Amino acid sequence: MTTRHARPLIALLPGDGIGPEVLHAARRVLDALAFEAEYIECDVGWRFWQTEGDALPERTIRALESCDAALFGAITSKPATEAEKELPPELRTGARRYTSPIVRLRQHFDLHTAIRPCRAYAGNPRNIRDATDLVVFRENTEGLYGGIEWRTLPEPLARVMSDPEHGHPDRMRRWFELGLDQVSLSTRFVSRPGAERIARSAFDYARAHGRRRVTLLEKPNVLRETGGVMTERFRAVASEFPEIDASEANMDAACTQLVMQPERFDVIVAENMFGDIVSDLAAGLVGGLGFAPSGNIGDRFAVFEPTHGSAPDIAGQNLANPIAMLLSARMMLEWLARDELAERLEAAIAGLIRDGLANTRDVALPGEPVATTGQITDRLIDRIQAHAPANPEPARS
Ligand code: NAI
Ligand code: MG
Repeated sequence: MTTRHARPLIALLPGDGIGPEVLHAARRVLDALAFEAEYIECDVGWRFWQTEGDALPERTIRALESCDAALFGAITSKPATEAEKELPPELRTGARRYTSPIVRLRQHFDLHTAIRPCRAYAGNPRNIRDATDLVVFRENTEGLYGGIEWRTLPEPLARVMSDPEHGHPDRMRRWFELGLDQVSLSTRFVSRPGAERIARSAFDYARAHGRRRVTLLEKPNVLRETGGVMTERFRAVASEFPEIDASEANMDAACTQLVMQPERFDVIVAENMFGDIVSDLAAGLVGGLGFAPSGNIGDRFAVFEPTHGSAPDIAGQNLANPIAMLLSARMMLEWLARDELAERLEAAIAGLIRDGLANTRDVALPGEPVATTGQITDRLIDRIQAHAPANPEPARS
């Protein structure tokens, strides 16, 4: 990745709840690694919705446009009707609808590929399946989360959908009988370039990282058209990677297999919602959301964030597990081609977990000692400094 700036410009997006706590941990660790970067902190989150009616203010988008990458903590989101009630009275006109900032970032910056690694680190007492080491590639801008949906089905749309030439008159009859105001609709868009792009990202990654298998999780026997396109493009891309085993599984059956035999999976490709679900399932196999990092990757810009949300139940108490955020920072270093720093961070995190020292409340077994977010960050920094290379200058060849 060639960055815009010699010293990459990193946006810090703390957000809500535990977001600022885990992001602070990541910043301290990046400094301990002597990662050379400039940082700017940007406004995002619920309090900007409450005060100015926009959880992702325009000034933040403008600032991000000049950044190389962003680290995102977490945000609180609420359903649109609840959100409206928290606006100041003068903004409660019905004109503003709450949309999740992270979803908007994905759309605005075309962050088409979500990468979500799930690895069972040795020594994690919360591992359910020690053999789990997989990476989910989730299409991040299309599919069922493409954002085109209706609370009640508009009449002109229903007419096209029941048109004998283009539509499905038999299927649509029931919805007309019920009354269109009784029917809601969400759409699942899959473009050929979108399907091909996510498959290619997964195969490129597998090749670059020596991973042997890429599995498409779909449901083409039921979702015949969109699932069919996903499958067709997956196969076309797979043919360019003869050394990698390309396999296909139905999304539902794969959930059982993932729990029982996670070692059968290596790199996974999935549409937006399927990828969302399967990455949460896989996180559960390796200790939960505290261990689930992610990257939202575009061609020129990427946002790295833990998969978890703002965890209001533990916010502000120094209880959050920072590992998911730290692994996300590690992914950012790799994306910025700071491979040596990424490897040092990975080794320090793996060592901390192996030694039972990453024991926040979500990790420690009952009766075992519990450490705070800050203590774990301190321990990781000590470890990084203890293993710092004698000459911090990168070797030149
Ligand atoms: P959540 O991920 O915030 O929390 C689920 C459970 O996991 C809670 O019991 C929480 O304490 C625990 N947990 C999460 N992260 C943890 C960590 N790092 N260390 C220790 N425990 C952790 O999901 P929930 O409760 O469904 O949503 C809370 C808020 O977060 C909602 O407003 C939701 O919309 C938002 N959210 C935001 C996301 C994002 O920023 N990308 C993703 C998911 C939810
Ligand atoms: Mg999710």
